[in-house]
Amino acid sequence: MEKKIQQIEYEEYKDASELTPEDRALLEVARKATDDAYAPYSRFRVGAALQLANGQRVLGTNQENASYPVGICAERTALSTASSLYPGIAVQTLAVSYRNELGSSVKPISPCGICRQTICEYEQRFGAPIRIIMAGLTGPVFIIKSGGSLMPLSFSSSDML
Ligand code: THU
Repeated sequence: MEKKIQQIEYEEYKDASELTPEDRALLEVARKATDDAYAPYSRFRVGAALQLANGQRVLGTNQENASYPVGICAERTALSTASSLYPGIAVQTLAVSYRNELGSSVKPISPCGICRQTICEYEQRFGAPIRIIMAGLTGPVFIIKSGGSLMPLSFSSSDML
């Protein structure tokens, strides 16, 4: 038996003022998008914004449903929209933000498991990593170099060969 360890590396910024202008602008789109989330059940509003390789930005919000499992996260809404509007164009960066019912939103959130799997699929599809910017409406910002780093030992199409 051999013990193996996988570590992840991410950057932590004091707040959005430390980001590059491009990253700050993308995060701002995600933060503003929280206003338009459809989250009447959880009242947890999530906004996601994508920077595409063709220079376009695409946003998404969580879309809930009275049948709870039908709901979709902001990240996957944004990815599906981007893939529909701009098929074949790689996603370079994804920013995600949120606010809860109390308006509290300081700690960065990271994508859920299903969204991580989806992000990995897009990385494989385009053969390029997707940077992820995570932040609340205020406070610290985390940046990770790829969705794959959030999914050690992930399942992908190559496992089916
Ligand atoms: N949600 C997202 O949209 N993205 C995440 O990264 C975490 C969770 C949504 C799903 C649901 O509508 C609500 O937040 C509460 O889980």
